[in-house]
Amino acid sequence: KKKIGILSAGGDCPGINATIRGIGKTAIVEYGMEVVGIANGFTGLLEKDVIPLNESLLSGILTLGGTILGTSRMKPFKQQEGDIVSDKPQLIKQNYKELGLDALVCIGGNGTQKTANLLHREGLNIVGIPKTIDNDVWGTDVTFGFDTALNIATEAIDRLHTTANSHKRVMVIEVMGHNAGWLALYSGIAAGGDVILIPELDYDLDAVANCLLERSRKKKPYSIVVVAEGIKTGKKKNAGAYIAKKIRKMTGLETRETVLGYIQRGGSPTPGDRILATRYGSYAAQMIHQDVYGVMVAINGNKIGSVPLEEVAGKLRLVEPTSGLVNKALRMGVCLGGK
Ligand code: F6P
Repeated sequence: KKKIGILSAGGDCPGINATIRGIGKTAIVEYGMEVVGIANGFTGLLEKDVIPLNESLLSGILTLGGTILGTSRMKPFKQQEGDIVSDKPQLIKQNYKELGLDALVCIGGNGTQKTANLLHREGLNIVGIPKTIDNDVWGTDVTFGFDTALNIATEAIDRLHTTANSHKRVMVIEVMGHNAGWLALYSGIAAGGDVILIPELDYDLDAVANCLLERSRKKKPYSIVVVAEGIKTGKKKNAGAYIAKKIRKMTGLETRETVLGYIQRGGSPTPGDRILATRYGSYAAQMIHQDVYGVMVAINGNKIGSVPLEEVAGKLRLVEPTSGLVNKALRMGVCLGGK
């Protein structure tokens, strides 16, 4: 009987519990495996903090946001200030053995897949599952969490239209996404943004100001500016506040900013994310059953499969500046920051 461990690491997102359930139920019901959860990401492996999982513990969590296992951003291969344990990878290897694990599923974003690959190189049997609202994991078309965050951001921007209209204002909305523009581009297009700024495309403040002034000349009462948190802002930390300040100064238009923040990561996953997370989880259990390790489960062209962790590690999937969606937006008159 195989014993498998599951951990979630990095920032949480809606759908993690759905994927834990997908792994666990398939592993227990179809393959008769023993399943344990590891608490708080890789920290739990260092502390041997284990939660035995059975069918009843896996029931009722499909729609639950966050992660029942907890998460952390602890990177075992990175020596951090104040570290007491000098050789974390060694300790993880030892604990993996002592816990009697035959395989470990690592649910996470880019950082987690990088760690997963290093642990695989150390001889552990690893299967990765991509998750993040940022949608920037290399090797897969989509990560769960993204669709939910997109829905939340779109609804928030929709709501800002009416208040912007009433006050004849420019509304600047900062959305998450780390160094990728997926969430800003998609929510911006879905919610009818007039200006959308993403890290993958350099922007020109004069072009942004001109676009807004032109709208005002055309008697458009208000404008919506969607800004990805990861755009270049010199040394300024808050992209939304930075852009709003510049717009105010350069156009004289009344401008307000809203930072959507962690709301984008909270709460129940959309049906699409529940299905994606379940497919990923169930497929990860299948990989373990077939003794296929050192891979991350992935969707390409709606076909589930896997990619070697070695290929995924250290890369980012970013918006292609010449992609069809970018071009469509430009052709409809959306300002993406270019002249
Ligand atoms: O990776 C998900 C994400 O929400 C990013 O969009 C954001 O930049 C980051 O996590 C925030 O990190 P933390 O949870 O550590 O504040």
